[in-house]
Amino acid sequence: MHMENNVFEQMAKRYDTEDRIELANIIVKEVRPQLQNSKTKTLIDYGSGTGLISLELTDLVDSALLVDSSNQMLEVAQAKISHKEIDNAKVLYSDFTQETPELKADIVLVSLVLLHIPDTTKILRELYNILNDDGKLIIIDFDKNDKINHPMVHNGFEHNELKQKLQEVGFAATTIETFHHGNRIFMNQDASMFISTSVK
Ligand SMILES: C[S@@+](CC[C@H](N)C(=O)[O-])C[C@H]1O[C@@H](n2cnc3c(N)ncnc32)[C@H](O)[C@@H]1O
Repeated sequence: MHMENNVFEQMAKRYDTEDRIELANIIVKEVRPQLQNSKTKTLIDYGSGTGLISLELTDLVDSALLVDSSNQMLEVAQAKISHKEIDNAKVLYSDFTQETPELKADIVLVSLVLLHIPDTTKILRELYNILNDDGKLIIIDFDKNDKINHPMVHNGFEHNELKQKLQEVGFAATTIETFHHGNRIFMNQDASMFISTSVK
């Protein structure tokens, strides 16, 4: 876990490459329609990184809290918030696998983070707990990919297995669909991404 975080600390300043921005924009385009009628809602972007996703969504929500376990990622995100004068976004350093914060939100977004967290059920349970009643969890991640084998990451997720875990922690309804296939987008392998939305 800590090794993983060090990796992100080292990456932060050079995280926003052209390829990552391009992928982020594809994700933003997929998530925005999910946030229609969310003007009064609070959003937590868990594992926000440099804010490539949620800083493009702040016009759709009441407020956005960017949470990450890498301070340096958050420094980059905070610099963007200040520079772009986004007045409804904040950052918070936290790792919900280590501590349970006193937070509540109407929408939780988890984009390309689940694959880095060993115990999927545990983090889903934490995210369930911080959601308000009727809250919505939006997960973006990679589909299961047998070409990838790395000790620190899940090689994607199988839709039915993830659905089962979401149900197990208490989510009422989940829909999952693949929305993008790309070349070399997951550890240099061709891969596809899914969006999962669940209601508490
Ligand atoms: C691949 S980046 C994704 C960034 C952003 N969500 C996006 O889609 O562009 C993964 C991020 O998750 C963060 N992360 C990894 N494990 C975490 C944990 N246990 N708690 C909070 N953040 C975590 C990393 O520091 C990193 O910023």
